[in-house]
Amino acid sequence: MDRLVDEEKQLEDEDELSLRPKYLREYIGQKDVKENISVFIKAAKLRDEPLDHTLLYGPPGLGKTTLAYIISNELGSNIKTASGPAIEKTGDLAAVLSTLEPGDVLFIDEIHRMPRVVEEVLYSAMEDFTLDIIIGNDGSSRSIKIDLPPFTLVGATTRVGDLSSPLRDRFGIISKLEYYTIEDLCNIIKRTADVFEVKIEKDAAIELAKRSRGTPRIANRLLKRVRDFALVNGSGNIDLNITKDSLSRLKVDSEGLDDTDHNLLKSIIYKFNGGPVGIDALAASIGEEVTTIEDVYEPYLLQNGFLKRTNRGRVVTEKAYKHLGIEYQKTLFD
Ligand code: ADE
Repeated sequence: MDRLVDEEKQLEDEDELSLRPKYLREYIGQKDVKENISVFIKAAKLRDEPLDHTLLYGPPGLGKTTLAYIISNELGSNIKTASGPAIEKTGDLAAVLSTLEPGDVLFIDEIHRMPRVVEEVLYSAMEDFTLDIIIGNDGSSRSIKIDLPPFTLVGATTRVGDLSSPLRDRFGIISKLEYYTIEDLCNIIKRTADVFEVKIEKDAAIELAKRSRGTPRIANRLLKRVRDFALVNGSGNIDLNITKDSLSRLKVDSEGLDDTDHNLLKSIIYKFNGGPVGIDALAASIGEEVTTIEDVYEPYLLQNGFLKRTNRGRVVTEKAYKHLGIEYQKTLFD
């Protein structure tokens, strides 16, 4: 099973594991998603049926994996995990499916990255808990049907639009995770600080929350680094001063933008006159992958009005010019 999990991802997950809430009541934020899922879990338990297949989507770091683990804990079932890009062949998926026991949760992260032929094997597995596979080679191949125990597939994706509609249609529950509010992030930071047994002042927690791009993974990562600075350069306690100082050393600005965000915005401003610029040209100019820009950097910049998407490409907004301290020049496209 380990082979089917992206190794880098696994390390990241293990690091986060101890910080993760285990039950819905401990999970902060995402109120609507939490309330709905809580009802669906209760109903499934009352009927003694598996929970419907669940798709969680949204930008990275918002807690899709955490929720998958919570779902399995709340159901009182085991979770088996796999990752889309690591399931290369139908046989890989068959191997995972054949380990399932009744009521298990199968979590597939980055489910949009599964090859189409593999995806097709999932259809019957999801719909009527059967595994339809072809074995043998061209000369003597035959199709076999194996019954699977009832299970719940929890899929996670940053790109719901990349899922084929037959796959998307087989999820009974589809939930979108949103960026967290400052208040929710603040509570997550306080909770994590408690787990670390480190003291953090309220204004320091608010400052950290403001600079975490609405993302718990970033909030927790920044908290860890600020904790280091507080321990080495301060008293060990986290106050506003040490927080501001650490964040400026980490090159995280007042809006939570980092070097790559600055690079991206400035590249559009200086190399493409503020835009519009196509994603491929932009990616080449800053040396990042198109998918990294689309999945990791752009969503927050778009949501917070630093960047606009037009049908001619990306355009930097007046707000971004102001934030970067660059004089704004109206373009033809305003
Ligand atoms: N740690 C990371 N995400 C969290 C969340 N949504 N609630 C509580 N703790 C978290």
